[in-house]
Parts: sequence; C-alpha cells; structure tokens
Amino acid sequence: MTTQPGQALPIAALDPPHTVPAFATHIDHYLLPDHETLNPALLAAIAGWRREDPGLASSNRLGWHSSRGLFRRGEAPFQVLQHQIRSALANGVRRYWRDFDPARFGMACEGWVNVNGQGAFNTPHEHAAFHLSGCYYVSVPSESTDDSSGALEFINPAGAGAAAFPNGAPLVEPKMRLRPRAGMMVIFPSHVLHWVYPNQDATDRVSIAFNMRVVAKEQRPAG
Ligand SMILES: [Fe+2]
Repeated sequence: MTTQPGQALPIAALDPPHTVPAFATHIDHYLLPDHETLNPALLAAIAGWRREDPGLASSNRLGWHSSRGLFRRGEAPFQVLQHQIRSALANGVRRYWRDFDPARFGMACEGWVNVNGQGAFNTPHEHAAFHLSGCYYVSVPSESTDDSSGALEFINPAGAGAAAFPNGAPLVEPKMRLRPRAGMMVIFPSHVLHWVYPNQDATDRVSIAFNMRVVAKEQRPAG
C-alpha cells in the first residue's frame, strides 16, 4: 500500500493477540447458599467468644477485633464456616496455581471476628505475610442511605495515576469498592491494600476475616 505524507492509515484488521493477564488481581466473591441459617448461629457463637475475649488492637478503630483463633474454635457454626472458607481459599489459589492440590499442600489459616459498631472502621492495610485473605459477612446493617457505609474498598496495587481516556473512563480503576451483604464471602490476594468505610448505622456490622498461607506438608518417612 502506498500512502501520501500526512494521509491517515485505516486501522488494520489484526488477528486476536495472545494475551498475557500480567499482574492479574482476582477479587472473588460468593454468596454462601446456607447463610440465612448459618448467620444467626454464628452471631450466637460470636457473642460467646466475645464474653471471654477482650479483643486486640489492629487496623480496627472503635470496634471489637477478636483474637486470631477462629480456626481453633470448636463451635459447630465456626466449624461450618471454616470448611466454607477453606473451600473458597482452595478455589482462590487455583486462580493463580491451576494444579494446586490441597491434599498435597497445606493451607495455614488464621481468622478473627470484627464487630464494628456505629462509627467504627478499619484503616488502610494489607495482610502481605500471607497469600490470600478474605472476609465473610455475618451481619451487615442497611439503615443508612449512604452507599459507602461499611463498604470494603481495595486500592489498585498497580498504583494510582493511570491516564483517563477523553471520555473520562480510566484505563484502569484506581480503586474498587464492594458493598458487603450478609452471607457474602470475599477472597483477595493478601498484598492488596484495602480499608473499611465507617459504619454509619446504629446496628453492628459483624464480619469474619481470615488469612491463608500455602505451606508444604511435612514429609513423613515411608513405613
Ligand atoms: Fe483486612
């Protein structure tokens, strides 16, 4: 094809490229099918845990943050949730490691409860000593008309400052907000910075957070 100087070339029709999903960040969320029966039982078990645990200070402000022993709790609703969390985490690992086999590799988990009363929030933080983290929502108030109340917001780990197109749409979003609902479980890479907007409702926002690191299982001598 010959062109004159200054002549615009038409956009060429190319074959679809081979795409590499470089630096992919998968934020998965589920709605547990049995959450309507599980959540009241969890709330009762959490109340029992709270009576014996003064809690600890972490990214939480004003709320109760239990100790991190969720996966050592023996109460039936916690055991049900432990199984659901482990299943979701195994799926989450396979997003990055397709052949991951939990029978060959262990998942070292820790988890805790957050009870955020009115005004409570969690400052920006990550859980980068782990591979995947997540949260399960036991009770999410919805009296507030403010959509941000109690919302979970992730900051793009690629960094801010991506240029927007002329129509205002960003090349990549600088952040992503999820409005939790009771029964939702979210799984995300532990290194992704996130925070929780203040709860503007008079009712407690109750969630269970967790971390997981894939570990090699101990090799036992044969025989
Ligand atoms: Fe967190």
